[in-house]
Amino acid sequence: MLKLPGLIDPHVHVREPGQTHKEDWNTVTQAALAGGVTMILAMPNTKPPIFDAATLDLALTAAKDKARCDYAQFLGAGPDNADTAASLAPRAAGLKMYLDSTFGELRLDDMTLWTPHFQKFPKNAPMVMHSESRTMAAAILFAAIYDRPIHIAHVSLREEILLIKAAKERGIKVTCEVSPHHLFFPSPPSPLPVGEGRRGEGRLEVRPRLADQKDVDALWANLDVIDCFATDHAPHTLAEKDGENPPPGFPGLETMLPLLLTAVDDGRLTIDDVIKRLHTNPRRIFNLPEPSETWVQVDEDAVYEIKASEQFTRCGWTPFEGWKVKGKVRKVVLRGRTVFDDGKILSEAGYGRNVRV
Ligand code: DOR
Ligand code: ZN
Repeated sequence: MLKLPGLIDPHVHVREPGQTHKEDWNTVTQAALAGGVTMILAMPNTKPPIFDAATLDLALTAAKDKARCDYAQFLGAGPDNADTAASLAPRAAGLKMYLDSTFGELRLDDMTLWTPHFQKFPKNAPMVMHSESRTMAAAILFAAIYDRPIHIAHVSLREEILLIKAAKERGIKVTCEVSPHHLFFPSPPSPLPVGEGRRGEGRLEVRPRLADQKDVDALWANLDVIDCFATDHAPHTLAEKDGENPPPGFPGLETMLPLLLTAVDDGRLTIDDVIKRLHTNPRRIFNLPEPSETWVQVDEDAVYEIKASEQFTRCGWTPFEGWKVKGKVRKVVLRGRTVFDDGKILSEAGYGRNVRV
C-alpha cells in the first residue's frame, strides 16, 4: 500500500447551478473522493455563469450544503465585470478567462476586454486561461506586459508546451496543466462505443481537441514544463454526447489517478512526479491550505478494468471504459475523518469546506 497526500484537482466542471442532470456538488465530490482527490477548484461556466456576488453565492450555497470534499469556486471573466471580479477575488479560487470557444457563454473575443482584468485582478490571486494555440501566445504576452502570473489550462499541443517552456526560460510568470486524456488517448483515437444510431464521434468531442501523436509525444518529452495535472472533469450525459450537437467534454475525476499510477508502473513517470503535480504545485500556484491529517491510501498492485457502472459521477460514462489499469484508491482520510473506504463514500453532504473562507 502506498500513502499519498490528498490530491488537488484545479479544474473541475461541477455543473451546479443550472445543469444538475449532468452533475452536482454532491455527485462530483463523491467522484473526487473515489479518485483520491480531496480538494477541487470549480469552473464558472455554469448556468448562470459565476461572474458576480449573487452568482458566486448561488454556487457556494449549493457547495456548502452538498460538498463532501474541500473546494473553491472560480469567477468567470466577462466583458464588464473586472471591478466586481477583483473585489470578489478573496472569496474565489481565482479568475477564469475563456479566450477561445468552448461549452457555455463565457468568452472574451476582443483583446480590449482582457485588459481591465489584467489591470485589476489582484496579482497574488490566480488567473487561469482557456487559451489555445496563438491565443495562448497572446495570453502569455499579456502576462509579460502586465507582469503578473497566469496559469494555462489543459495544454495539448507541441507548439503550446514549447512556447510555455520558452516563456518560463525568459522569466515570464506562466504555469500550466495537462489533462490525462491529452496524455493517454491514442492518436488517432480508437473509436468509442457506438451510441444510438451514431458512430461515437460525439463522445470524442472535447476542447481542446485530442491532438496528434507528435503533440502527445511533446507533452511527455517536456514533462518538466508541466506544473500540474488536472482532469478538466466535464460531465455531459450519454444522451447528450450521442445526440445532435454533442457538447465537448469528458468526465475524469475517477480515472486520473489510476491512469497516472499505471504510467508509474510502466516507468513513464515517478510517484514523485505525480505528487508534485497533483499536490505540491497546485497548492503553491493556487495558494491553497494544507488540510491536517489528510491522505490517500492506494493499492499499487490492484489490476482491474475501468467501468462507468462503478463510478460516482452522474454523467454515466467514461471515455476510458474497459481500459486496464494498475493502482486503486482504497481509502481517503480528509481532516482526520475516513471519507472513502473500499468503494464507499463515508463523508456526509456538507462535510466539504470552502478553502477560501
Ligand atoms: O471539453 C470541454 N468541456 N472543454 C471546455 O473547455 C469546457 C468543458 C465543459 O464545460 O463541458
Ligand atoms: Zn474546462
